[in-house]
Amino acid sequence: MLREALEYLTTPCPFLARRHGYLGEMVALGARHRRQRAVWEPHVACCHRFIADAIRDLPKGGRALVAGSGRLIEVPLPLLAERFDEVVLVDMLHTWSVRRAARRFGHVRLLTADVTGALAALDRMPPGSLSLPDPAPPNLPGERFAFAVSCNLLSQLPIMPLDVIERKHRSCPEAWCLRGPLCSSAG
Ligand SMILES: C[S@@+](CC[C@H](N)C(=O)[O-])C[C@H]1O[C@@H](n2cnc3c(N)ncnc32)[C@H](O)[C@@H]1O
Repeated sequence: MLREALEYLTTPCPFLARRHGYLGEMVALGARHRRQRAVWEPHVACCHRFIADAIRDLPKGGRALVAGSGRLIEVPLPLLAERFDEVVLVDMLHTWSVRRAARRFGHVRLLTADVTGALAALDRMPPGSLSLPDPAPPNLPGERFAFAVSCNLLSQLPIMPLDVIERKHRSCPEAWCLRGPLCSSAG
């Protein structure tokens, strides 16, 4: 508990990621992983194997992108770093342990960004005046990526934005449209 509180207080984090719970989730992910390490092991091994298989036949060099790098639990960073000239890790925030892991390699870059670009727009909207923002994903200048993986990110993308909509725009018809399928599946 103390460890989690310290991590929450000391992790560098953009204001919006803190405000909308991404930092809390990141800290909770670390705590769950420490508690359930043995149970998660097959899943983690499977993720590492998936990435190893995916890059096996690629020529060495070029750039790799990991979207949703999180705490690097599911990401075999040494393997990627050994294989590519540059590895870009993208997440809403990067913990100190990830920063340290990246620093060990000279060519692992951390990009702090919302891959949907939707959160800032949602946050700016006054309560009750929901109009769904056009997605504005971050610009990733430079050479094309030779390899890109979304590391268990896709399923997470709607969670926090839907939570913002639920809290700030509950009464809007658009919010009803988004909530409808979730509510009906919950009965
Ligand atoms: C299930 S966790 C992935 C864990 C990670 N692959 C690992 O090995 O530790 C999902 C990750 O997606 C990130 N995430 C969620 N929504 C995001 C967004 N819109 N843009 C960037 N990252 C996002 C979260 O911060 C979290 O780290």
